[in-house]
Formats: sequence, structure tokens, C-alpha cells
Amino acid sequence: MSDIPVITVDGPSGSGKGTISRQIAHQLQWHFLDSGALYRLVALGAMKSGIELGHEAGLADYARGLEVRFVSDDPTEEPIILLDNQDVTADIRTETCGNAASKAAALPAVRQALLQRQRGFLQSPGLVADGRDMGTTVFPAARLKIFLTASAEERAKRRHKQLKEKGIDVNLAALVKDIAERDQRDGSRASSPLKPADGAVILDTSIMGIDEVMAKVNALISEMMPDTK
Ligand code: C5P
Repeated sequence: MSDIPVITVDGPSGSGKGTISRQIAHQLQWHFLDSGALYRLVALGAMKSGIELGHEAGLADYARGLEVRFVSDDPTEEPIILLDNQDVTADIRTETCGNAASKAAALPAVRQALLQRQRGFLQSPGLVADGRDMGTTVFPAARLKIFLTASAEERAKRRHKQLKEKGIDVNLAALVKDIAERDQRDGSRASSPLKPADGAVILDTSIMGIDEVMAKVNALISEMMPDTK
């Protein structure tokens, strides 16, 4: 395993891990891996290519050959995402795509197909990896593992606000149901289920603002990775 430091940030959708992990990467000037985007890209690309979401070998082949580029000037913002040179930044963020991604992500061959690609993001001076199994499977030797969580209602509210800001209008009750279904699928799958890694620090963000979470994360970085800052 490499000596390059990794911080993993795992948790369910709406736990704040996207915002928090991007801020950490920006602050440390490290690389950033949005692993959920890779699963979303596989699902979107497969749907566009007519590959059924249950066709494990077909999806895994597609995942291995995924032609994707993340184009970014500002690490605190979501980058423009090009799939086969087409801008799919907004398309992959829909709830339909998130649900399809969670179905594709339950298939072991798809997870295996994306493993090396995710590890390829590990480059000097360091990596912040955002996902569900970053600390358990993809980067088990990470120096700091964080698991963010929040109540399903709070996460649905945050997701609702986020989608609204992007001009996507979704019913809140439908969102709560979607999130509960996705939690159930992500947490119960046999291959790399969503769960805190051994040694992970669990932070419940239900009643914490971003600044408060960042203060806790910074204290952890100073304590566990004193050579970092
Ligand atoms: O984080 P995001 O909501 O973009 O992820 C979409 C879906 O991809 C998740 O619901 C989950 O099923 C899957 N995923 C995963 N492992 C990861 C990241 C995402 O299974 N490391």
C-alpha cells in the first residue's frame, strides 16, 4: 500500500459527506474522489446504452471501460462531468439516476470493476475519498476514517433543498421513502454494505451545522495526522 495519506468520508446520502469531504480536500489541497459519481455514471451510461440494470456482466464490462473526465477549477464546487465527452453533470444527480446507481452498486462484479479506478485517484500529496465503502474496502489503510450520519428525515430535507437549488422539484414524502429504500439496499447488500469501518469516527450531523462538523474534523486531523497541517 502507498504512503500517500488518505482520509475516508463514508455515510448515507444526505449526511453531508459531499460538502464536508470537498471542504477537507480544498483545505488540505488534496485530491478528491466522488465515488458515488462513478456508480451514477455507470447507471446512466448503461441506461443510455440499453444495458439492463440486472445484467451484471454487461454492467461490469461497461464500468471497466467507462470514459469519464472530471473537469474542475474549484475543488469546493462539483466539477463538470463528461461521459463520452458529453456533459452529464446534471443528469447523474437526479433521483432516478441515484436509485439506478444503488441497484448497479449492489452487484459485486460492478464494484470489482470500479475498484482499481477508485484507487487510481490516490495521488500525492493526499486524497479525500467520499463514498459508502471507502474506509472498509477501497482504502482500508486510510489514516483517518470518518463516518457521517443523520436521521432519515433530516437527510431527506437536505436532499430536497439541494435538488430544489438545482431546479429539480421532488415531493418531500417521496424523497423520505426513496432515502429509506436506498439506505435499506445499501446497508443490506452482501458486497461492501454501508457500515462504519473499524476505527471510524462516527459523527451524527442531524443537529450540527457544517462549521461545527468541520471544527470536529479539523480537531481529528490535528490529533491523528499532526504532520498534515
Ligand atoms: O453518494 P451518491 O448518492 O452519489 O451515491 C449513489 C449510489 O451509489 C449510492 O446510493 C450507493 O448505492 C452507491 N455507492 C456505493 N458505494 C460508494 C459510493 C456510492 O455503493 N462508494
